Amino acid sequence: MRKYFALLIASSLLFACGGEDSQQQDTVFVDETDQTDETSEEQVLPEIWGAPALEDENPDPDVVEVTLRAQETSVSLSEELDADMYTYNGHLPGPIIQAKVGDRVIVHFENELPEATTVHWHGLRISDEMDGSPRIQDPVEAGESFEYDFVVPEAGSYWYHPHVRTNEQIEKGLYGLLVVHGEDDPEYDAERYLTIDDILIDQNGELPGFLERRPEFMHGRTGNALLTSGSLNVAEFEAEQGDVERWRLVNPANARTMSLSIEGASWRVIGTDGGLLEQPYETDRLTLPVGQRFDVEVTYEDEGTATLFTHVLVRDENNEVVEDAFELAEASISSSDKNPRQIEWPDVQTIDQRQVDDEQVIEFDVRQTVSGATEWTLNGEANAQDPLFTFTEGDTVRIRLKNNAGPEHPFHLHGQFFTVVDDGRDWTDQPGLKDTVLVPGQEEVEIIAYLDNPGRWMAHCHILEHAELGMMSEIVVEPGQ
Ligand code: C2O
Ligand code: CU
Ligand code: CU
Repeated sequence: MRKYFALLIASSLLFACGGEDSQQQDTVFVDETDQTDETSEEQVLPEIWGAPALEDENPDPDVVEVTLRAQETSVSLSEELDADMYTYNGHLPGPIIQAKVGDRVIVHFENELPEATTVHWHGLRISDEMDGSPRIQDPVEAGESFEYDFVVPEAGSYWYHPHVRTNEQIEKGLYGLLVVHGEDDPEYDAERYLTIDDILIDQNGELPGFLERRPEFMHGRTGNALLTSGSLNVAEFEAEQGDVERWRLVNPANARTMSLSIEGASWRVIGTDGGLLEQPYETDRLTLPVGQRFDVEVTYEDEGTATLFTHVLVRDENNEVVEDAFELAEASISSSDKNPRQIEWPDVQTIDQRQVDDEQVIEFDVRQTVSGATEWTLNGEANAQDPLFTFTEGDTVRIRLKNNAGPEHPFHLHGQFFTVVDDGRDWTDQPGLKDTVLVPGQEEVEIIAYLDNPGRWMAHCHILEHAELGMMSEIVVEPGQ
């Protein structure tokens, strides 16, 4: 049980945010017009390590049809610890749904939980009716089912999770992986999808009550145990010297920003929330806020062991705040004289400089109600029922995200992509398309959002307790001409 933190600091605010030393790119955008539906010769999808793949029940090569069940499951988190969790199809993380760009995905969803839920497809630019937003879709009641049916427009590493009592349901284990493969995706020796989560759990495998303590209201629920791909154990796998792998990383934690590094191998960042980067970049430390994804390319130059760490601030015996490294995954690399394969970087079609049509501000704040409850607000409103903004399809909007209150807020917008604009600070120097961005305490971040997907879209803080306590709103994109 080496992954229990000795003494945790509740605040992710205290996380050392070195930022990613990455290079800034011009505004990028996926060009949809090139995604034609040429009758595909059957593209063989790579196997992805990290969770079982969901079986495709439909023989049509362009339709992925699967059955997904949310259920109560006793999960063995390690040899010594079982816990009563929620899972999709009995597995933590939930199974991988694999598709190709342009595929139709049909998900027969069955809710076997004792409570209502929905499934949200985080990052996918699909129709809002299929987005799992309880503002649009009536939650699927206990024992009921629902058919999700959508077309996946862009390649990338996505994930799915509920959007009802989200802080509890995700913490209990309801999250899974969805990968959309592009036609030009580079080939690797192996692909892995790692979920890097933390949960709050006691020695008996019980999850303490939700939203009962002030630190949880303030900073979100940070855990005392790290779960890599659903296990308290270090994830172990084998590789060969000279192998080059693609790792897709997602942080499904309620609140904790992960700060990742690798030893014994080299890596570079090749993809973000919105798919492959035009230009991969090197970094030592990868900051992975909740909700976000990064794809990294890992090269094993030497035999031996490669280790993935996350760095956490803890208190030492003298009550000093120090950074400690926790091991998440370990590759045993056998010796070989093979040279690392040369990855020919595809021509990622993203460039599309667009004129900004509108500028807006979203302010993140907190207040106490008269009864003493904590409310987190977006532009002064908690759980606003009216949209924050109404835009028109095709609008390009510069949005300034102003964090006026304490801890960091990972801002997430459903159904659209945005880029983070460089404003001179290290931590905004992030290329690529995003659906989530970290807005550090008392700081401002500027994004440019490409509102190309009409509908009603949730906009919220992905610290799930903040969202639950009010930091949740909606942006409307009206259909254009
Ligand atoms: Cu991960 Cu509202 O989303
Ligand atoms: Cu989402
Ligand atoms: Cu927040």
